[in-house]
Amino acid sequence: MFLLRSAAVASFLLACGLPYSSAFVGSGLTVTPKDARLRTAVSATASRSTPLGLKMEDPLLLRAARGEKVEMTPVWMMRQAGRHMQEYRELVKKYPTFRERSEIPEVATEISLQPWEAYGVDGCILFSDILTPLPGMGVEFDIKETSGPKLKPLRTKEQIDTMKICSDWSTSMPFVKQTLGELRKRVGNSATVLGFVGLPFTLATYLVEGGTSSEYLEIKKMMYYNPSLLTAMLENLAENIGNYANFQIEAGAQVIQIFDSWAGSLSPEDYDLFAFPYQKMVVNAIKKKHPDVPIIIYIAKSGAHVERMADTGVDIVSLDWTVTIDEARRRIGRDIGLQGNLDPAILYGPEHIIKERTESILKMAKGRHHIMNLGHGIEATTPQPNVKFFVDTVHAFKH
Ligand code: CP3
Repeated sequence: MFLLRSAAVASFLLACGLPYSSAFVGSGLTVTPKDARLRTAVSATASRSTPLGLKMEDPLLLRAARGEKVEMTPVWMMRQAGRHMQEYRELVKKYPTFRERSEIPEVATEISLQPWEAYGVDGCILFSDILTPLPGMGVEFDIKETSGPKLKPLRTKEQIDTMKICSDWSTSMPFVKQTLGELRKRVGNSATVLGFVGLPFTLATYLVEGGTSSEYLEIKKMMYYNPSLLTAMLENLAENIGNYANFQIEAGAQVIQIFDSWAGSLSPEDYDLFAFPYQKMVVNAIKKKHPDVPIIIYIAKSGAHVERMADTGVDIVSLDWTVTIDEARRRIGRDIGLQGNLDPAILYGPEHIIKERTESILKMAKGRHHIMNLGHGIEATTPQPNVKFFVDTVHAFKH
């Protein structure tokens, strides 16, 4: 949320032609989500140079991601745009397939903005999927409303050789560019626009298994019987995904989250062979072209891997709820950003539990290089009022 406190801000609003009443002078009132449009107007005007010479800052989450001292902890939620929102379910009736919703820029923009408008979250993530770039690499996919991603499995050398390196992401994914550009315009400085990609191991689980899996036995068999075939696929994915992440940054993404959601299913030995090197290739590709863009890494069930996650060279490690912020800081042992890590199930609890658990994380993080989030994606049946309560609790907390 955006705090409008000072008389200087009030005069600035007047100078911009905005009504004086919108300044809430001296009241210290917070702008609630329903005022999101006002915040857009303020920030869109303010991001240009101001008649009063006021220096408008970058959005809160971006500053926190860089490790700057911030006035309050920013918050957003993984999978925040989607099924848990009534507004989204209404749009599903009109646009029944996930591919339509994520590939028509106007629809993807509207969905990406829904959680920002409803809750005033500080991050606005592109509505898309980790599988979205696959057609650019020569791999088709479908997403079934009930059972999730579906692909023709790639398991032989001939099948894997059909994968290509995408030479121009703006031709194969023009809707991603349009959506990110539009999001930047719409949120101005009042939220940070996040892009995201899936990392090679997690993408490979979908390519080899042909869809969602619980034990990952096909890809694990490939690791043991034909590791060079798998590493050829992982290398192709790493090169494509590094380029695709850079394309998102050039289209407007201010922070990139990289998801290796299923790498937590690997033993440390296999993680070091089949996940880490390819995570690092993606991080290096982004850092080479865009060294100042903060990168967040996320892995589910990653309590055992937090040191490895930090070693990739990212700026922020997004924790699940199997470790505390204190433990992660102690184990990593150096200054790195942390994101997370409320168990998404807490959002089904009563308000006093949501408040207590959220504040306990905020106290531990001490407002130092921390972005509040859940430990994994928000569940589809989460009650919306609880989500709003969670976001408001973070914004109201004083360090
Ligand atoms: O959840 C994670 O671990 C994040 C990484 C991830 C995403 N997609 C990012 C995402 C993973 C592992 C996927 C694969 C995928 N794609 C699944 C999971 C299935 C499994 O194997 O368990 C599903 C169901 C899809 C299809 C999909 N993607 C749907 C139906 C939606 C709509 C939103 C929802 O969940 O209701 C998405 C959107 C999506 N996938 C986003 C992201 C970052 C959207 C942006 C956001 O709000 O975060």
